[in-house]
Amino acid sequence: MSVADRWIDLLMGCLTRELFCEEEARDVDLSDWAGPGDPAAIRRHLGEQGWRLVTRGADPARRREGRDWPPHAETMVGRLRLEQIRSCVEAVLADGVPGDLVETGVWRGGVCILMRALLEAHGDTERRVWVADSFRGLPPPGPDPHPAEVTTDWSQVEVLAVDADTVRANFARYGLLDERVCFLEGWFADTLPDAPIERVAVLRLDGDMYASTLDALDALYDRVSVGGFVVVDDYGAWPSCRAAVDDFRAAHGIHDELVAVDWTGVHWRRSS
Ligand SMILES: C[S@@+](CC[C@H](N)C(=O)[O-])C[C@H]1O[C@@H](n2cnc3c(N)ncnc32)[C@H](O)[C@@H]1O
Repeated sequence: MSVADRWIDLLMGCLTRELFCEEEARDVDLSDWAGPGDPAAIRRHLGEQGWRLVTRGADPARRREGRDWPPHAETMVGRLRLEQIRSCVEAVLADGVPGDLVETGVWRGGVCILMRALLEAHGDTERRVWVADSFRGLPPPGPDPHPAEVTTDWSQVEVLAVDADTVRANFARYGLLDERVCFLEGWFADTLPDAPIERVAVLRLDGDMYASTLDALDALYDRVSVGGFVVVDDYGAWPSCRAAVDDFRAAHGIHDELVAVDWTGVHWRRSS
């Protein structure tokens, strides 16, 4: 293994915190406390002492498959989907497929950090990494939400709202924040259609929802190079995301094989 390969491998272990699962601390609120005493009083008492109540440890198998929402990691996608992005980026570099690397829906930025590192590891000096997000979480449901999205208002899920400065700081933590990392701040429908991206070699969709997925495909698919990849994080996990992808592919006559990445992710490679 080259030094660059070892660096990328280490980086993936850090971005997922897979390397530190046994040390991971997750806040608990005692809502399911079955021991003696009043949970509210215990919480108050500990708070007054300046203590935090946490559980320790995380399941490395679940983390590898990206099945939990990690408290500290820069990505929730897990090692398998990071390995897959790595193979896509390495394929477009090896095959000379023109274009930048884009993720729509970045959360804390981990996948984009890996993309930037891969360009560095392979000596690429031209391509850019586009980091597209509202940086305030998922949008509220529109007037006509997809049936799978009517029961939950995801815009209220605070943990999904990560501001852009935090994401910049996450890039900087790994020494990977520079002028080739380009932020597109706002709702995809507003930022992507006129984004100054000429060609895309890898387009990674991770906006979860029907409209978020479709907005990204509508705005960017035409710019994906032949030989480039479209990667969809939520195809298995979110029925509405799957519907958006299926609708888009049907509407545009796209028959390139959908390849499963793991229990939720899929990708296809653009052939024409
Ligand atoms: C599941 S998180 C992405 C996970 C991330 N790729 C990772 O590596 O962990 C979904 C992200 O999509 C963003 N998002 C969803 N819909 C959006 C939209 N329509 N416009 C802008 N951002 C959106 C949210 O703000 C959130 O950061």
